[in-house]
Amino acid sequence: MRIAPEAKILWEQAETILLRGGRLVDPASERDGAHDLFLRGGRVELIAPEIRREADLTIDLSGLVVAPGLGDLHVHLREPGGEDAETIASGTLAAARGGFTRVACMPNTTPPLDDRSAVEFVLHQAQAAGHARVYPVAAATRGRQGRELTDMHELREAGVLAVTDDGSPVESSRVMRRVLEYARTAGLLVMTHAEDLGLAAGGVMHEGYWSTVLGLRGIPAAAEAIAVDRDVRLAELTGARLHVAHVSTRAAVEIIRSARNRGVAVTAETAPHYLALSDEALRGYDSVFRVNPPLRGEEDRAALIAALRDGTIDVIATDHAPHTQLAKDHELEATPPGMIGLETSLGVTLEILHHREGFALADVVSMMAARPATIMGWGGGAVRLGEDADLSVFDPAAAWEVDPEQFASQARNCPFAGWTLHGRVRMPVCQGELMHEEAVEFCPSERLLTRIP
Ligand code: DOR
Repeated sequence: MRIAPEAKILWEQAETILLRGGRLVDPASERDGAHDLFLRGGRVELIAPEIRREADLTIDLSGLVVAPGLGDLHVHLREPGGEDAETIASGTLAAARGGFTRVACMPNTTPPLDDRSAVEFVLHQAQAAGHARVYPVAAATRGRQGRELTDMHELREAGVLAVTDDGSPVESSRVMRRVLEYARTAGLLVMTHAEDLGLAAGGVMHEGYWSTVLGLRGIPAAAEAIAVDRDVRLAELTGARLHVAHVSTRAAVEIIRSARNRGVAVTAETAPHYLALSDEALRGYDSVFRVNPPLRGEEDRAALIAALRDGTIDVIATDHAPHTQLAKDHELEATPPGMIGLETSLGVTLEILHHREGFALADVVSMMAARPATIMGWGGGAVRLGEDADLSVFDPAAAWEVDPEQFASQARNCPFAGWTLHGRVRMPVCQGELMHEEAVEFCPSERLLTRIP
């Protein structure tokens, strides 16, 4: 069922819109229950259990969840330089389709996002595409070379909220210390790609039983733990805000948990693929399952879920890493790591955490909207009166089969092809606008009531 074409047209014409009968799940205001939303000129004018007002357009959202627009702290949009894999337009359309209204894009482009002009280019392309808000995360060091720091004050002025050399770690502890110190003076968050390159070198999967059986070079869990430990200690030393990207191991979780107990300002993310898959997935040597950090063992997978439960890991981020079919179509060792995730993130998270593990919907919305907003300080993450409507309307129970051929992303390196997921985005609204017609599957036209002639 596609969006009723009239929905988008009517939405554009309507000055007032009543979203009726949905279940509002907004952890920031502790609302979880039936609420109507009244929008005027794209802004939220009223939120109440039942609104009896006439509107130009009324949409019946019964059976659906109304959440704040989702935020993804970690995506690769590949532009500039990697437009054969993804563009800012295709990546943000994929984001919208996945329910995201805000995404933070990583600086490992060609050239890297390490100065004002590169950041302004990304912002310009995002604005032109208009599918989601994009927050470029700039490089922490020039050229992501790990030697000289970038001009973080200038980057902050250009609109940057965080820095990282993601794709690779800042190898030198001395340079990382300076990154944290300097970022602190500029009020920037530091996101760390925590990996000990010496230990990880040459590895293509998690080091353990399956790497031995398959005869593939492994990356030990210690490669992550050692780097997380170093960066947490440096955050403690410098007082800077540290965010640990793509946590994949139990050992890293334990280090983060103990640091937080000491009061260190550290937050963390993990990705849906670490919750849904383990290293056994590589038994067919399929390069779609190669990712860095690698899919880990069952014990790690369970530890990540426990860490989300007790709040040690704050957010789910996709690490959406598009690659061309050409690049992935080789033997495992010769392919780049990374998998796409924007269009499956909510479905996989609901499937694993909500349906299987019993997490409340409010917990999932916290991890995917409210906490990303708090960590990045990008606004949103809540449904607030007077603000532009930024919503993700989804059906938490709708079953659908993942078919990457249908994706808005240019890339097809999705590890969930053929999976049946329960939980589907129906209606992303960004800055008061109903997103692109092709971007959504939506309610049939009988849900629409209009007084527009
Ligand atoms: O698997 C990964 N892919 N891990 C990274 O750190 C980088 C990313 C990419 O850019 O492809």
